[in-house]
Amino acid sequence: MTSGGDCPGLNAAIRGVAKAAYELFDQTEIIGIADGYEGLISGEAMLMRQSDFSGILIRGGTILGTSRQSYRQLCEGGVGKADRVEAMKRNYRAMKLDCLVVLGGNGTYKTANRLSNEGLNIITLPKTIDNDVCETDVTFGFHTAVETVSGLLDRIRTTADSHGRAMVVELMGNKAGWLTLYSAMAGGADVALIPELPYSIDQVAQAVVSRMDGGRKFSIIAVAEGALSRSEVRMKKKDRAEKFAMNPYRTAAHRIAEQLHRRTGIETRAVIPGHIQRGGTPCAYDRVLATRFGVHAAELIRDGNFAQSVSLVCDRITHCALKEAAGRTKLVPTDHPMILDAKRTGICFADQPQPKQS
Ligand code: F6P
Repeated sequence: MTSGGDCPGLNAAIRGVAKAAYELFDQTEIIGIADGYEGLISGEAMLMRQSDFSGILIRGGTILGTSRQSYRQLCEGGVGKADRVEAMKRNYRAMKLDCLVVLGGNGTYKTANRLSNEGLNIITLPKTIDNDVCETDVTFGFHTAVETVSGLLDRIRTTADSHGRAMVVELMGNKAGWLTLYSAMAGGADVALIPELPYSIDQVAQAVVSRMDGGRKFSIIAVAEGALSRSEVRMKKKDRAEKFAMNPYRTAAHRIAEQLHRRTGIETRAVIPGHIQRGGTPCAYDRVLATRFGVHAAELIRDGNFAQSVSLVCDRITHCALKEAAGRTKLVPTDHPMILDAKRTGICFADQPQPKQS
């Protein structure tokens, strides 16, 4: 089952699990659950043939389909919620599953852990372009997205250069700035704004102006969709949401572009690549990672080692207890060495402490 936002490498992982399972077991029956938890609730599933797993290594998206529902929507309180958990348990049993392999990110993991606590045999594989699943160094899909985004930044650069503009490019990542951090470094951005480091818009403006003064007429500002300014971060969540809803500039990129233009007078544009970041064929790294994650999942099934999440730790494919990975988000540590390296190569995070007023 694949659940949550899709990413490149899902099919490679599905294929990895299937190929290894056919190899490891005398008799293997694989059932593909359609559209994530939706299919598990409704019982919509298909008996897969071995040939279904051929030729899918390079395909983006997921051959099983996916859907996004939060843990709260599926499992917490309210009328019908308990029924959904019961329906998932019922269908698991009706399909006579020995194990449910779940490919997902944080939201998916939380529900998977609940199902595991309810007695289902679960193994999870960490996927997402956000790279924010705990207990693994990297999720599959992430490096493909970094490739995609750095390619986009290359293109943004040429047009920014022609026009002498500041380009504010908004990247996916509501809570975690991994994609922005890696893409900013790979794509040579001048400013990177991530949710973990609240920014000062004045420092963004200073960075752009000092580039101008140094003869570089354009600037690329990579901003994670969840990046917040220092004053925004201090607000209560509800007040912030209300303020954003009233603002004609609804997204981080538009807000920043408008403020930057107002402060500097430099022609500024906001660019939001959106779901392009999740599309396309997986890069070689993700094909290898997803395949190896899949093989490891099949080995865990063979060993009857359930309630586990497959992971990569220090370049070794391994696993950890699902309950350790579920329900937490892997943020960029604010003292991460990559932030320091990025700063040393001139990328501005606009996070310097404000000088004290005398
Ligand atoms: O896959 C994770 C993610 O890419 C987030 O970074 C982003 O906020 C979200 O998905 C968008 O998801 P949806 O497809 O539901 O719009």
